[in-house]
Amino acid sequence: MTVALHFQDSGEGIPLVLLHAFPLSGRMWANQRATLSDSCRVITPDLRGFGRSPAGADEPALEAMADDVFALLDRLDLGSVVLGGLSMGGYVAMAMLRKYPQRIAALVLADTKATADTAQARANRERLASTVVESGTVEALYDQVLPTLLGRSTKDHRPEVVAEVRGLIGDATPSGVAWAARAMAARPDSIELLESARVPALVIVGDEDQIASVADAEAMADALPKVTMARLMAAGHLSAMEDPRAFNAAVRDFVAGLT
Ligand code: MLT
Repeated sequence: MTVALHFQDSGEGIPLVLLHAFPLSGRMWANQRATLSDSCRVITPDLRGFGRSPAGADEPALEAMADDVFALLDRLDLGSVVLGGLSMGGYVAMAMLRKYPQRIAALVLADTKATADTAQARANRERLASTVVESGTVEALYDQVLPTLLGRSTKDHRPEVVAEVRGLIGDATPSGVAWAARAMAARPDSIELLESARVPALVIVGDEDQIASVADAEAMADALPKVTMARLMAAGHLSAMEDPRAFNAAVRDFVAGLT
């Protein structure tokens, strides 16, 4: 059963739906909302179990998150949209592409990857899920997730971004985190899916990304038939927060080229 997602909706024009990373919320897109809403209608949902969106009752699967976003598009009476996702948001975007490609006019895949988890990565996610549920807090994320979310340049020079990300992590709930970790662990490989994509795509990657590497981004770009790639030099995994100017410029150019 789908969950009615909380979302923010700013600006007018071509609809641009941006799906957030784990374990954050739609608030990570504050800069994109403020900047890109002069030329796009920027819609930023909180995926189920994060931000102000409730958890669902389904078994963990990214398809459930994808269905929630389709239900939101229905509520907003939007046929097709430019769909963007960063990391987990990118996994959800790929799940949406798999289900109803006709509802996606163009795709932005940022700091994400098309490969499935290794057995080791799945085991790590299960350990994290059990830890947060058993401890009843998301404290473990500060040691186990935060250090890899940001690039070295941000950690060294942009303490305000580190503080902002810490704050967003602190808003997560153990149940939302555990559900999403298990859903990510269950995702399939999507390279063939990207090979069959008919829509224009933009792949963005932070050069200092330790979670979804430049090589992961290049593998997606190699698979996608119509692709533009943007590599952001002093940014890590959360490139949209670490270098919003470059991120927004890449998205703005891409969207302008669609019309
Ligand atoms: C994210 O930023 O959404 C996560 O790091 C993705 C992942 O763990 O694969």
